Amino acid sequence: MTKLLLETLKGNPGERVPFWFMRQAGRYLPEYREVRNSTNSFMEFCYSPDKAAEVTLQPIRRYGMDGAILFADILVVPDGLGQKVWFEKGFGPKLDPVNDEATFKGLSMGAFHDKVGNVYETVRRLKTELPSDVTLLGFAGAPWTVATYMIAGQGSKDHAAARQLGYGNPELFGKIMDMLVDATSEYLIAQIDAGADAVQIFDSWSAAIPETMFEKWIIEPTKEIVSRIRAKHAETPIIGFPRLAGAALPRFVDAVGVDCVGLDTGVPLDWAAKEIQSKVCVQGNMDPHLVVSGGDLMVAEANRILEQLKGGAHIFNLGHGFVPETPPENVALLSETIKAFRR
Ligand code: CP3
Repeated sequence: MTKLLLETLKGNPGERVPFWFMRQAGRYLPEYREVRNSTNSFMEFCYSPDKAAEVTLQPIRRYGMDGAILFADILVVPDGLGQKVWFEKGFGPKLDPVNDEATFKGLSMGAFHDKVGNVYETVRRLKTELPSDVTLLGFAGAPWTVATYMIAGQGSKDHAAARQLGYGNPELFGKIMDMLVDATSEYLIAQIDAGADAVQIFDSWSAAIPETMFEKWIIEPTKEIVSRIRAKHAETPIIGFPRLAGAALPRFVDAVGVDCVGLDTGVPLDWAAKEIQSKVCVQGNMDPHLVVSGGDLMVAEANRILEQLKGGAHIFNLGHGFVPETPPENVALLSETIKAFRR
């Protein structure tokens, strides 16, 4: 059976616009919370193929998305490199910070694939369990975004610790980024080997970076990952998502060579249609907070997005992930609205 989402990524859109949602598996679903509550730690959950495959399938059963995103987290990569990573309830991720030569020495690729191998097992299971018309998406964080967590030891406003290390100790910062390029490339290639149809690289924190540093910290490492993936899997589409990159988006698309780019909620769509969709597939960009209130305004916005991007390849998605307070029935209404649209 043809996979509409995969075909659209390859530049062959059909009449219907395919869709999936970032954080489509998550706390807004009661069946997710049930599985989540049966595990002690979030990392252990990510490394449990039965549970991770189950929560990946849950939203597909409910809403019939065209794409299923592997359940894992971007912080699996630093964990695989030997950094201590854990999640604190009500706080979010915590890591033992890597911010000097001594802490950097604790990282290595040595045990990486053993440590994260269960994620590949999740992909293999999903490959057999997913309906044949659903595209299986693998993913990883981009080096810059992952480094912001590794260096600060937690999520941070303005990513001060990573920026200051990048400027103040470019040699050490460069070593961290090079290791992330190696690990992320191998991690994504292994996901594709295991059965992922396409992959997305999340650069959630690429906002307000000076253009010289956007080139070094965002474009160059992502471009290197894309070229290493292409050398092994030339046919597998790659989605880039440099969130909040704004006017730097066309440069990102041209330089990195992605097949599709995720648009965050603030990107004006007439501009995106002209400057980006004329070259590659675009994905996005409904405000996840509008799905909390739902109703007529959500339906009207969904139809506006579909109309404005119907001239080329478009995958409907959010501009960022679902928030936990999203009512599941609003996701149902949004899904039906997208399915009913014809280009
Ligand atoms: O459904 C999916 O989208 C697939 C799974 C997925 C998760 N995280 C599961 C998750 C994906 C693709 C991610 C990516 C991710 N993780 C990003 C990039 C995308 C983005 O949102 O910007 C980032 C920055 C992270 C790091 C991360 N993971 C944070 C900051 C948090 C805590 C915030 C929160 O929502 O609690 C997580 C935890 C996390 N990852 C949850 C889920 C479903 C919630 C934790 C829980 O269930 O207890």
